[in-house]
Amino acid sequence: MSYINENFLKLQENYLFSTVAKKVAKYSKENPEKDIIKLGIGDVTRPIVPACIEAMNKAIIEIGTQEGFKGYGPEQGYEFLREAIIKNDYNTRGVELDLDEIFVSDGAKCDCGNIVDIFAQENKVAITDPVYPVYLDTNVMSGRTADFDGKKGMYNGITYIKMNAENNFVPEIPKERIDLIYLCFPNNPTGTVLSKKELEKWITYAKQNDSIILYDAAYEAYITEEDVPHSIYEIEGAKDVAIEFKSFSKTAGFTGVRCAYVVIPKALKGKTREGKEVSINALWNRRVCTKFNGVSYITQRAAEATFSEEGKKQIRENIKYYMENAKIIKEGLEKAGFTVYGGVNSPYIWLKVPEGKTSWEFFDFLLEELNIVGTPGSGFGPSGEGYFRLTAFGTREKTIEAIERINKKYN
Ligand code: MLT
Repeated sequence: MSYINENFLKLQENYLFSTVAKKVAKYSKENPEKDIIKLGIGDVTRPIVPACIEAMNKAIIEIGTQEGFKGYGPEQGYEFLREAIIKNDYNTRGVELDLDEIFVSDGAKCDCGNIVDIFAQENKVAITDPVYPVYLDTNVMSGRTADFDGKKGMYNGITYIKMNAENNFVPEIPKERIDLIYLCFPNNPTGTVLSKKELEKWITYAKQNDSIILYDAAYEAYITEEDVPHSIYEIEGAKDVAIEFKSFSKTAGFTGVRCAYVVIPKALKGKTREGKEVSINALWNRRVCTKFNGVSYITQRAAEATFSEEGKKQIRENIKYYMENAKIIKEGLEKAGFTVYGGVNSPYIWLKVPEGKTSWEFFDFLLEELNIVGTPGSGFGPSGEGYFRLTAFGTREKTIEAIERINKKYN
């Protein structure tokens, strides 16, 4: 008999988006004639832009030649891509980084999940509530939480920081000491953002408490307002306390192509039990070299092309398209009498469900009555109860139709 990692048994039965997908598949099988509009999981619908396709085509031809053939690449990513990332995503915002502070990967979900490997079990972890479920579930799997409290809808041994309309979706700085803090802004699921001033408070807290902030900036490209930081490193001192996760998925439509990166500044240090300082960058590098063989050359050339003049222009068009969808959803819902958050600096719209319904009841109602799929807020944590998330990543036509269906029902 082989023993299992029993931490997995503490998990809720299914991953949120799998539960949603299962429910939709069942409904769709029973009602094949229904035209279901999917605005649930944040998956993009616009095709990959021509600049990236050209770069991929070129790379395919290249690796078919003797001179251009590529075997294993550097585990951390090709220099051409890491250089382009630093120049375009950081230097333009006044942030200097070294090449070896960037690690190219196949997705921010994997990075956010894998990062727990290099931290000790006894670290105190804080997440916002609601939260992107990957941060929580991967800490459950790796044994950093106690059991699930069904009444509270929370795991014991983890700090939940409330984010709701009452605090304007600004998570309060914890009173106690936390070791690892997950922050995601623009936020998934609420679509809300933190101002520079608010984010500065977290850097100060992390410095005072020797904490590390795990900052997920996957939706940064959707920021439209001034004074909203695109990177945590825009804040003075952040390199000493923060890891940043970035992705090409939502920026360039790479949810199927797969490419992302992590920034781990060399200034960032952790401690051994004896109090000796250790470079987090060196630990992650060691992990990457052991467990990962890098992202394909073809994909990295496509990612590089997102930074070319043509690439940038084409990607901006796609982002504009999704943000117009966000506006249509936001304004349409408001017209139908809903209270709505997000959708201004983010492709997610977070709405209050009508009085008397839970998030899952509203999910069932939307699916069965209006044939629209969204994501129930309570799936992101107990403070998400009473809320619901719609994504702006659908096609224009389906987005308009979904809003028309809602308006017909509620107006
Ligand atoms: C979401 O819908 O929250 C995202 O698509 C999940 C992800 O990026 O993994």
